[in-house]
Amino acid sequence: MDILKDKTILLGITGGISAYKAPDIASKLRQLGANVDVVMTESAAKIITPRTLQSITNRQVHTDMWQPVENFRAGHISLAESADVIVIAPATANTIAKLACGMADNLLCSTVLATRTPVIMSPAMNDNMLNNPVTQKNISKLKDRGFVIIEPGYGHLLSGKIGQGRLPETAEIIDIIRLVLSRGGDLKGKRFVVTAGGTREAIDPVRFIGNRSSGKMGFAIAQAARDRGAEVTLISTVECYPAAGIRMIAVESAGEMKKAVEEAVVAADALIMAAAVADYQVEQVSGNKIKKADGVLSLKLIKTPDILSEVKGSFIKVGFAAESENLVENAITKLKEKGLHLIAANDITAKDSGFGSDNNRVTIIDRNERAEVLPLMSKREVADRILDRIKEII
Ligand code: PMT
Repeated sequence: MDILKDKTILLGITGGISAYKAPDIASKLRQLGANVDVVMTESAAKIITPRTLQSITNRQVHTDMWQPVENFRAGHISLAESADVIVIAPATANTIAKLACGMADNLLCSTVLATRTPVIMSPAMNDNMLNNPVTQKNISKLKDRGFVIIEPGYGHLLSGKIGQGRLPETAEIIDIIRLVLSRGGDLKGKRFVVTAGGTREAIDPVRFIGNRSSGKMGFAIAQAARDRGAEVTLISTVECYPAAGIRMIAVESAGEMKKAVEEAVVAADALIMAAAVADYQVEQVSGNKIKKADGVLSLKLIKTPDILSEVKGSFIKVGFAAESENLVENAITKLKEKGLHLIAANDITAKDSGFGSDNNRVTIIDRNERAEVLPLMSKREVADRILDRIKEII
């Protein structure tokens, strides 16, 4: 289940031009199951209308300390108390300065002053205003007070210049909200190492032997573990975005993945290998591009290291089995041979799951050969089911 489901997010919008992006943030949060309360400053309400936000959130939008409210408890104290997290996006230099001084001359500042919930702030403004030592000092004051500051994006600014000061993409802001909500999750303090994607075994500087793994399964596991409070290292052959709070290590070949896994598992509680690791690599990688010639090209292939079998330690080992026949029998053989605690077997002949798909259909098998057959579900749901099983073992 998405960590945002049924959470109450208080979205504070201040009067920067990028306030026009705030309805998108509110809309995506709603689509992910969150309740969104909006507090806008007077200046923000000159850039976008409260009515837009009201329609998106299906809730009364708060703009004024003194506005008559239908529900008496919708004042700054109750807004501060009911939110699971407060997100100010965009945050102008003016609001940042007021918050840094503890001012409470509008509803947003009073609410923030009255809250004990985590506050995320996304400064967005002209680059000179951002880099002004006063603004920088105010931002670091708020950081010291525990505010989570989202680094402003780099790119085209209203002034026509290219610089730092843009409101980051909605996906990035939402990912940081997830990260903040994850604190105190049921896997808090646990350390997970996850692998994702298909390895690439070089033939020459241009070509490689690869496979169809997109990295979606591994990334879903990493994100689910992060959302549940774990410290996560993701060793991946594909670039995954966004990934706030996840330590990413980029690798390409089975050999590189093995080295990264060995280093990362030293203090880990669990290793989950969702990566599709090549079983063979070219014995002699050509330093130059192999020229086309008449006849057959022969490549001598040798085995890659078996990472799961060779990596040692007291952590929980979980593998995946990509099978096209005898799913459970073959998966049990791999579980035993590789000394795993659990294996998730997926039938890769199914068209609606497995490689590249957003969904998967797996059977989770444990050391007692007990098989839990899961129906087709999203990779995120599969991830949570695997994490539930790991939690039982931990
Ligand atoms: O990435 P996606 O597009 O989302 O697709 C997901 C997936 C289908 C790739 C994933 O769910 C999956 O099945 N991953 C494992 C694929 C695979 O390599 O299976 P295998 O049966 O060949 O290997 C068994 C286990 O040993 C795997 O955990 C694998 O990571 C590991 N292994 C394999 C070979 C090797 N040299 N070293 C290993 O550690």
